[in-house]
Amino acid sequence: MSNTHARPAAGSLANADLDQAILEAEAHYRARHPKSASRKLEAAQHMPGGNTRTVLHYTPFPLVWAGGKGNRLSDIDGLEYLDLLGEYTAGLYGHGEPVIQAAQKKAIDEGTVLGGPNQYEARLAAAIRARFPSVELLRFTNSGTEANLMALSALRALNPERPRIMAFGYGYHGSVFYFSTGHDQLNYPIDWLVGRYNDVEGSRALLRRHAQELAAVIVEPMQGSGGCIPGTPEFLGMLREECTASHIPLVFDEVMTSRLSPSGLQGRLGITPDITTFGKYLGGGTSFGAFGGKRKVMAHFDPDRPDALPHAGTFNNNVLSMAGGLAGLTQVFTPEAAVRINALGDELRERLSRLAAKRGLPMQATGIGSLLNIHFSRRPIRTPMDSHPEGPAAQKALTGLLKLFHLDMIDQGYYLARRGFIALSLPTTEADIEGFAAAVSEFLDARGALLERSLPA
Ligand SMILES: Cc1ncc(COP(=O)(O)O)c(C=O)c1O
Repeated sequence: MSNTHARPAAGSLANADLDQAILEAEAHYRARHPKSASRKLEAAQHMPGGNTRTVLHYTPFPLVWAGGKGNRLSDIDGLEYLDLLGEYTAGLYGHGEPVIQAAQKKAIDEGTVLGGPNQYEARLAAAIRARFPSVELLRFTNSGTEANLMALSALRALNPERPRIMAFGYGYHGSVFYFSTGHDQLNYPIDWLVGRYNDVEGSRALLRRHAQELAAVIVEPMQGSGGCIPGTPEFLGMLREECTASHIPLVFDEVMTSRLSPSGLQGRLGITPDITTFGKYLGGGTSFGAFGGKRKVMAHFDPDRPDALPHAGTFNNNVLSMAGGLAGLTQVFTPEAAVRINALGDELRERLSRLAAKRGLPMQATGIGSLLNIHFSRRPIRTPMDSHPEGPAAQKALTGLLKLFHLDMIDQGYYLARRGFIALSLPTTEADIEGFAAAVSEFLDARGALLERSLPA
């Protein structure tokens, strides 16, 4: 990228100590981004912490974007970045995708607040059904959170004798569905049963023990926020088997993972949930959510039925999301495009892990296809617990390394999440991932000794 910058060389003072390295990297970051720094101060007068979406907060202050084109972002200080975050998966199409933009502009010209069914929503529903065969009927919402809220509320209402829902530790299903400690104060207040992700026998036993209390089991087939931890086929297969045996609807939250094959992670795994929830890119870059699945469940929302379940939402069928989403799914994110971007992601993930392994350093990348997460860890990461070290000292070191990596990557012109999360967008090329791999190599060379010292064997 154009804004590469000299970083402290291996063996320099800045690499002697993690806290010292972070202080220097932060000072450098502050000096390069004065406008982003003042925007935070100004915004904090009107919004708590200058923030309206927790995940966009990172220290010392987040970069503020002036705009994007393709998979490039420019910040308000005039620097350019390769966008590896892809708006936490909602930005699959990149910035300014012309087919989607044309569809959205046409929709704007036609009118956006028409107050009735429009000419796009049923076509988008048909396109989603065609790609995800488990979806026999679906309804739209405004976000993935809302899709999960509606799906789970409906399943509880349809089975009042079974009020509980089973979810999994470190799972994330939206702003009121956090399953990691310290983040769950605002959770949807029901009596959750929380199992251990990828623990086949432990979770089977828990599920069996409580089967008669459960209105649903909800799971991400790959935990996204939890660190791109793929559910093993044995684990997800066990859930399918046990839910079928106990007549419990199995909900796959594919808000993030529906992009991982032409027919989602469910298609790739060959496991069919009863209900699927969607979100992110499927709205073509504007707000979106949907839930759908078995006709016998979804038909309860048919307002012609005397006992219909209600489902309101002023913007459920907002024309921008419906028109943009339809153009995107049918013309841009074709099955071929899905295969290409996921193969590129597989290549990047393997390459990053190889770079660290070659140097014997404690870094690895997990994930599937176009979604990956970098972890600083010596042990193999197969469950979310593996990526969360025990004890405050190890936790502090991990937080520090993730921060240093994030600041160093930004310095080299690569934007990703502080937690090491990457979501490739369709404009990403082979040359882009080569450039990023070179930047990571440079990080490993410059900071390798620091990594070794911070994560002792
Ligand atoms: C798996 C999963 N479910 C649900 C959501 C919530 O979606 P939204 O942010 O659109 O409410 C997210 C968002 O990151 C997610 O990753």
